[in-house]
Amino acid sequence: MEAVRFRVHRFRPEDGHRGSFREYQVPKKKGMTVLDGLIYIKENLDPTLSVRYSCRMAICGSCGMRVNGMEVLACNTQIVELEKKVITVEPMKNYPLIKDIVVDMSEFFVKQKNLKTWLIRKDVVEQENPTRQYAQTEEELEKILQFTYCIQCGLCYSACPVVSNLPQFLGPQALMKLYRYLADNRDEGEDRLAAVDKFEGVWRCHFAGSCSTVCPKGVDPALAIQLLRRAALK
Ligand code: FES
Repeated sequence: MEAVRFRVHRFRPEDGHRGSFREYQVPKKKGMTVLDGLIYIKENLDPTLSVRYSCRMAICGSCGMRVNGMEVLACNTQIVELEKKVITVEPMKNYPLIKDIVVDMSEFFVKQKNLKTWLIRKDVVEQENPTRQYAQTEEELEKILQFTYCIQCGLCYSACPVVSNLPQFLGPQALMKLYRYLADNRDEGEDRLAAVDKFEGVWRCHFAGSCSTVCPKGVDPALAIQLLRRAALK
């Protein structure tokens, strides 16, 4: 059976250095994904390898990593489509490394939490004892629909060159998520725009667009940031 060579980033915090690559030969099967290859390595060649995953179907957003230099979901990336004899697997950038290719995404989630990226309503009693639906027209839904597809995989944050240079930058995902709620006609939250109308908010983005390029769900965070800028200027 034909094999494919995996070059996998290995790192143990106790070793105290950035890490190195280890190579594995993995039998290639039709339909095999990069995640399948990593699971094969863990189960058959090297049980010490750490990999984070859950759904295996591009829904949970757990298996983000860089494969041959590109941010991808490993479970959504077929080996044959890469058309390479060597598959280099690295952790996402812009996150502290925990082990091998597993990163710490705490800061990524804190940034969106600080922006209160959820639906805020004033009718607390209605929310606790609902008597009706919060209806939307098709046009109202259309304004936010693509942004609701985000699965919080963090690939956009890894691909963002601004986060690399300025870790305080809120990043494409948090800004996009805020826009998703500000543009939602059902949201009654106080003006959250002030929190992003600053240098490390919407104004530091230089529109590289890499966030939108790598999104596995077709979300366009770069567009959301431009729309937030427009709202801030208004
Ligand atoms: Fe859930 Fe890949 S394992 S998105």
